[in-house]
Amino acid sequence: MSNELEALLKEKRVFNPSTEIIEGSNIKKWMDKHNLKDYDELQEKSLENPQWFWNEIAGELEWFQLYKKVLKWDPPNVEWFLDGKTNIVHNALDRHIEGPHKDKIAFIWEGENGEVKKLSYNDLYMEVNRFANALKSLGVEKGDRVSIYLPMILELPIAMLACAKIGAIHSVVFSGFSAKAFADRINDAGSKIAITADGFNRRGKVIHLKNKVNEILKDTPSITNLLIVQHAGVEAVMKDGRDVWWHEIRDGMDSECETVSMDSEDPLFILYTSGTTGKPKGVVHVHGGYMVGVYATLKFVFDMKEEDIWWCAADIGWITGHSYIVYAPLIFGVTSIMYEGAPEYPNPGRLWRMLEDYKATIFYTAPTTIRMFMKYGEKWPQKYDLTSLRLLGSVGEPINPEAWVWYHKHIGGDKCPIMDTWWQTETGMHIITPLPISDLKPGSVFKPFPSIKVDVVDDDGESIIGGGGHLVIKSPWPAMFRNLYNNPDRYMETYWSTFPNIYLSGDVARQDENGYFWIQGREDDVMSVAGHRISSAEVESALVSHHDVAEAAVVGKADPIKGEVIYAFVILKQGIKRNSDLKNILKNHVRNEIGPIASPADIILVSDLPKTSSGKIMRRVIKAKVKGEPVGDISTLANPEAVDELDKDLVI
Ligand code: PRX
Repeated sequence: MSNELEALLKEKRVFNPSTEIIEGSNIKKWMDKHNLKDYDELQEKSLENPQWFWNEIAGELEWFQLYKKVLKWDPPNVEWFLDGKTNIVHNALDRHIEGPHKDKIAFIWEGENGEVKKLSYNDLYMEVNRFANALKSLGVEKGDRVSIYLPMILELPIAMLACAKIGAIHSVVFSGFSAKAFADRINDAGSKIAITADGFNRRGKVIHLKNKVNEILKDTPSITNLLIVQHAGVEAVMKDGRDVWWHEIRDGMDSECETVSMDSEDPLFILYTSGTTGKPKGVVHVHGGYMVGVYATLKFVFDMKEEDIWWCAADIGWITGHSYIVYAPLIFGVTSIMYEGAPEYPNPGRLWRMLEDYKATIFYTAPTTIRMFMKYGEKWPQKYDLTSLRLLGSVGEPINPEAWVWYHKHIGGDKCPIMDTWWQTETGMHIITPLPISDLKPGSVFKPFPSIKVDVVDDDGESIIGGGGHLVIKSPWPAMFRNLYNNPDRYMETYWSTFPNIYLSGDVARQDENGYFWIQGREDDVMSVAGHRISSAEVESALVSHHDVAEAAVVGKADPIKGEVIYAFVILKQGIKRNSDLKNILKNHVRNEIGPIASPADIILVSDLPKTSSGKIMRRVIKAKVKGEPVGDISTLANPEAVDELDKDLVI
């Protein structure tokens, strides 16, 4: 058993939120209004009647035409808010312009170099309209796909909202991915327009984007135009007839633009995530259910109030940023902080200084970030006044109790409950999560959000209490993804075929005797590096695309800060000279193919890899070796001698 797992199993402490937090919480007020005495009663009632619960929430939002039915569930097919007409942008922007939020700050943006921009709801509304009109002038219509490769600058949410406003489907690709990864995702989506920036700032250096995109656009036949945001002020090589500067086209654009009426089930975006094969999966979300789901979770989990200053310190390129930087906070009409750069730049006080300066009340980040700041020490947060904070959040990977307690004490001043939210790109919204009224156990993600039935089951699909098993979801939720883009077979096979009519999450978890869930990690060949999902197969295929590599096997190795780091075992082609330079060349090759986050921490050059008789590499055996655990049964291996070869790095 790993030390981490042992620590989780031993964790017995319980942290109770203060009476003030409980009594002031949105969830408590909502339960009082509905005469529900406690959370158990709410769960019971909402499980019996999810339509009741979600209808109440959806009624707080605006619909062009009210839905006729809340839910149609014919697993795995689902429809929410049937025949409803709306547009998420109407709720996130348009309606605010008519009311008290018009001049309220939507985003406080800080660049890595310290530059600050503030955008009111009205400013954002006008910019989105201009951008939407620009897209229309480039021929974008309802249902068209637009691929976005932008850093954490205000034009990223602007571009996303502009797409959604006119009914186009956005596909945002994390700007830390390589241009090649952008090209693959453009081609899968068949996008008409691509959007990028000249570059952005990261740890004091400018990272070029536009010039990298130039190299891939020859291989993306569906793209007719590239729209470029000028941000870093670096030279960009433009192609006549194809490339358009955003600031040039913007000037001629009207600041009003009609919001297209969308069916609840019309697609809003595609977001690619890693699966067990080398090809990323295009997760599809829709306007109606997603809008209601992200709104409800921000309201109840993060207890959003009118006066809150919210900071979700994720990148918009991931689902956390889509749901909880862009859509939910805007629907709510709160003020959010957005930051361009690296969290420890120019020093490890950066985040804490920003929390103090903007008097943030709720802060949401990943365990990797917390562990990194633990390493720098509490002297950094201690320099700043963090007393404005009321609630904290964690997402993306299991948080070890030690990091939880550090976060609670040194960032939350022992008074802020931590919402450790379990969810996925596919779920769109929090699924298993505490609420500000929950008694918290460090390391546990608490219990399912109202109306959602989650379980831990064995291989036969039987529920297990106390032991580890497959984490599954047995009931529908509004923000659930509706498909994998252009790949319904993979959708069925990956998520719905192991247990009929039950969603398989791909995680292993345990439920304790009090109903608390404890996430133990992935059960498939997907690694979690600094909270980012990276598939072993994707890194392997990047490695074997190098001309010197014959075969590769990639596994995750436990890391005290990043959760996991990538270990690659590589067999070189015959006659290739082995040296340590080659390792760096291969690491760089992966950077170029996928992006820096997928670059292996170490590459071990080996002469053989353990395989089954059908020639399939046994990653299980390699994983055990890397962990220093017994390799278990290797009788099915065609080449048992390969196991010992793993210890011999052939670099001379
Ligand atoms: O393994 C779980 C882990 O992150 C995976 C989902 O990754 P992604 O789709 O990139 O979305 C991340 C942000 C929602 C899950 O299958 N994960 C997510 N949240 C937690 C977590 N593991 C433990 N605790 C969490 N709170």
